[in-house]
Parts: sequence; structure tokens; C-alpha cells
Amino acid sequence: MEVVLAEHAGFCFGVTKAVDTVYEQIEKGTAGNIYTYGPIIHNDTVVSDLEKKGVRVIENTEELKKLIADKKNSDNANGTIVIRSHGVPREVQELIEATGFEVIDATCPFVKRIHKVVAAESKNGSSIIVVGSANHPEVEGIVSYVEGTVNVIDSPESAQKFEGDRELNYTLVSQTTFNKKKFQETVEILKNNGYNINIVNTICNATDERQTEAEEIASRADVMIVIGDAHSSNSKKLYEICKEKCENTYFIQTLEDLHLNLTENVQLVGITAGASTPKNIIEEVQNYVRTNF
Ligand code: F3S
Repeated sequence: MEVVLAEHAGFCFGVTKAVDTVYEQIEKGTAGNIYTYGPIIHNDTVVSDLEKKGVRVIENTEELKKLIADKKNSDNANGTIVIRSHGVPREVQELIEATGFEVIDATCPFVKRIHKVVAAESKNGSSIIVVGSANHPEVEGIVSYVEGTVNVIDSPESAQKFEGDRELNYTLVSQTTFNKKKFQETVEILKNNGYNINIVNTICNATDERQTEAEEIASRADVMIVIGDAHSSNSKKLYEICKEKCENTYFIQTLEDLHLNLTENVQLVGITAGASTPKNIIEEVQNYVRTNF
């Protein structure tokens, strides 16, 4: 039996940078508390390791406002807030800065680019369409940079139902981790329905490579394993892509979730992982499959 591990499995460049930034602050012995706005990545293992090392997660703007009030009451309150790779909405950024703490912005440059595109295009009079999930933090951030009208379309089905204005000029961007095929289908539907659309494909390369490779391996594999956190949207998309090509696709968070029962007919097991899956978890799964079957 052959085991194939995807080359593009695990942490992408943006996530690596954000996670490393937090660990660097711990090692540096930064004065005051270290905070992240939201969990630094969608991975419970990493987040609880950071928690043990004293990193606190700010969950919402109410907690930020409390920090601002505390700072007013005590000039000695200090700390560092790290913004994660998804980025944050403009108003949250302003609140983070108002805390007076040191701010380290680890927003992925590919996400920053989308903020700039939608800000500039909407200022020039374009209506914006974001292809992605409206309640994903990355999309909430993108939407906040639009000056004017913005619509979020989460699937080809929603594109079919979209009732816009055919007289308007639309600029369309995508959540960085959106499914490439569904993005193309969505764009085609909107164009065929007569909308005037300027397309800026902002699916990031890391996602593109990861999805293309996963699809290729899944199309050959008898069993496919996708490792990712249940809250990670890019991991869930990876699972959907693999499942379409390989009926026996498993979605697991850690090795503990894997209950494989391989028959003699299984010749190839493929493994891939989402952008927020740490290397050690991928290695564990890979070693287990290689040594036990
Ligand atoms: Fe950045 Fe792409 Fe990762 S946008 S955070 S490199 S998935």
C-alpha cells in the first residue's frame, strides 16, 4: 500500500507568520500581557498551548472596550495585541489601536491586498461583490473596507438568486480560501445573468496549490485523509473537494479521530491538511498510517 502526503499540507505562509509572531513575543518576554484578537488560528491544539504560555484571547469588541477603560484607569497597564492572519474589520482595528497597547498586525499580505482593492474600487464608484462566507472573520474585514454598496455571495446557488442592478459596475473579489471551482462557477453565473463585472481573483496561491494537489491525489486514492480543525473553513473546503473525488474521505482533527479499517483492496492512501494544521499532527497521522497498515 502506498501513502502519499501532499506537499502543500499544513501551515501556509500567512498562518506561519502569525503563529511565529506570537511565539516570538513569548520568547522575548514582552512586558505586560500578550493578547490575540480572536484565536490566532483555527486550531485548538495550538491555541491551548499558547494559553498555557500565558497568551490571552480577546473574543470581542466588548472585551477591547474594557481594556481601553482599564488603561484609562491605570497608566501602568501595558501589553501587546497581535492581529491574526484573517485581519479584522476597520472599526475593530481602530479599537485595538485605542487600547494604547503595542499592536502587531499579522494580517496576511494577501488579505491586506483585498482590503486595498475593495477600498480603491468602491471609492471609484464600483459596487463590490465578495465571494465568500458572510460570517467568516476575513470576509467581515473585507466588507468593512468598502465605501458604498457591498454584497456577499457564498455559492453558485446564491449567485443564481442574486438580484443586483445591471446598470452598475461591479468589482468582484474572493475570500482567499474559497473553492476555486465554485468561484469560477459563481463568476460564470453572474456574467451569464448580464452583470457587468470586473473580476479580481483573490484566492491565494497557497489555497490554489493546496486544493489542486488535494484533488489530484484524491482522484487516485482509495482512501483520503484530510486533517484540519472543525472550525477551519479552508479545511472543510478541502474535505469537500476530496470527497467529490474519493468517496472514502475522512475529516479528522487529530490522530485520535482516525478509525481506519483498510481492506486489502486499498492501494493508495492520500493525506492532506488545512492551512491551520501543525506539522506534528500531520507527521503523527502519516507515521501511524505508514506503520500500521
Ligand atoms: Fe494568507 Fe493564503 Fe494563508 S491568504 S493566511 S497565505 S491561506
